[in-house]
Amino acid sequence: MPKPGQLVLLVSPRGKRYLRVFEEGGSLHTGDGILDYARVAEAGFGGLAHTHLGKAFRVVRPALYDLVKGVKRQTQIIYPKEIGYILLKLGIGPGRSIIEAGSGSGSLTVAMSWVAGETGRIYTYERRPEFFKLCRSNLTRCGVGDNVEQFNHDIADGFLQTGADALFLDVREPWLYLEQAAAAVAPGAPLGFLVPTVNQVSDLVAGLEKGPFTDIEVLEIFLRRYKPVPDRLRPEDRMVAHTGFLIFCREQKPLSAEEQVPAAVPDTPDETPEAAPDAEDAGDAPTGPDAGE
Ligand SMILES: C[S@@+](CC[C@H](N)C(=O)[O-])C[C@H]1O[C@@H](n2cnc3c(N)ncnc32)[C@H](O)[C@@H]1O
Repeated sequence: MPKPGQLVLLVSPRGKRYLRVFEEGGSLHTGDGILDYARVAEAGFGGLAHTHLGKAFRVVRPALYDLVKGVKRQTQIIYPKEIGYILLKLGIGPGRSIIEAGSGSGSLTVAMSWVAGETGRIYTYERRPEFFKLCRSNLTRCGVGDNVEQFNHDIADGFLQTGADALFLDVREPWLYLEQAAAAVAPGAPLGFLVPTVNQVSDLVAGLEKGPFTDIEVLEIFLRRYKPVPDRLRPEDRMVAHTGFLIFCREQKPLSAEEQVPAAVPDTPDETPEAAPDAEDAGDAPTGPDAGE
């Protein structure tokens, strides 16, 4: 049964979704009638609650996906398909400190806050006051944010933290802030970026190549949904063709002369070739970098 202060997702008979904080004595006014929260409490998660017009609403415990989809948007946001990969690539989790800019509507901030939990720390930067406020209201709405510290700052002036475990930039010209980003993270920390156009990817990669960064990766994530009809299973006719490009790298300060690893000596042609890797290792090996992801 939902408890006061807990989030509930109420799904109408026509599939309209209402994300609400459950409170005793509350109600939801919809085109399908008024739904008393007393009925929601009786139904519990997984149950059906009826409006005064007798329409049945499903009472669902929202997943992180539902929270991100329910964020009120006034900026472009990052979508669940990218967010999942970003969280994994940046190693977001309990005990980690993460810097993010710009906060925008707070879609990524909500997800990072949820995943990092009580012992994680998110520092999010936004230069526009209206989005700074919007980010907090979305965090509150989603029942997260205690681990989020917000800064109404322009990141051109640098970040106030040093030694962060990871950093993510979703701003129009991320290449302008690479020096600030490198100064804010721990040695070797992962960094990520999202930009919508290939021109921006080129400018960013050119900036990253100047250092101090390594392991630069550029990728795109596609999501294709299927019509769930068992005997006519096929993809949906339309899909979202583009959201953004993701770029990842790691901080790598320039190595001193003593730290440089000597270049490998090439095998001489008459040497016996090295044994092939164990079949067990090689058996299902992917055919290219990151194949099978
Ligand atoms: C696309 S939105 C970010 C959306 C956010 N990632 C989300 O998922 O909701 C980009 C945000 O970056 C902010 N921004 C751009 N340049 C900035 C800067 N130099 N310092 C701080 N914020 C900046 C913008 O005001 C805008 O709100």
